[in-house]
Amino acid sequence: MTQPARLAVLISGGGSNLAALMEACKDPAYGAEVVLVVADRDGCGGSTLAEEQGIPTATLKVRDYDSREAWDQALADTLKSAQPDLVVSAGFLKMFGPAVLRSFPGTIINTHNSLLPAFPGIHGPADALNHGVKIAGATLFVVDEGMDTGQILAQCTVPVLDDDTEETLLERIKVAERAQLVETVGIMVRHGWRVEGRRAFLNRAQ
Ligand code: GRF
Repeated sequence: MTQPARLAVLISGGGSNLAALMEACKDPAYGAEVVLVVADRDGCGGSTLAEEQGIPTATLKVRDYDSREAWDQALADTLKSAQPDLVVSAGFLKMFGPAVLRSFPGTIINTHNSLLPAFPGIHGPADALNHGVKIAGATLFVVDEGMDTGQILAQCTVPVLDDDTEETLLERIKVAERAQLVETVGIMVRHGWRVEGRRAFLNRAQ
């Protein structure tokens, strides 16, 4: 059997997406293992989850470095040391700089809680609710130098209900987002993907 693909996962919070990936990785047929979890702040629930399962973790805070560039280089070096096949940004609230982007061309993906290109940035569900959309959702995309601008690998939708608050909508999106992340990463590691201009395609089983 081939070796499982090595995933490095970046987080800034509770890590429910990370937890879903770790759960999926317990099945050898999934084809992946989480080899490193990196946080940009202390106190991330996701780091604790990873530690409990014996997965190496690192915390790189921007303020501990002389410059944003130095942080970006340290992040690139930390990620490289884990030799990941895929870098998964799962609720990581920082933009990557050139050192990280150059180190992993086309192999960093990010999950975002809106239907891009609508509502990029860190308030996607609130922005969707305030705009009055009837359909919200999540987007998994290949990271580029822009903010939530890369090629889209997958999208899923959820309804916006009349009595939704930011919290209820956020939670409904997160359920769909987690399932999408797990399914899409599985396809990517088992079958591959390709990018052609603005479009990204998942390879399917033959
Ligand atoms: C996700 O909904 C992601 O889209 C957003 O933050 C959330 C992360 O949640 N940027 P978690 O830390 O994986 O629970």
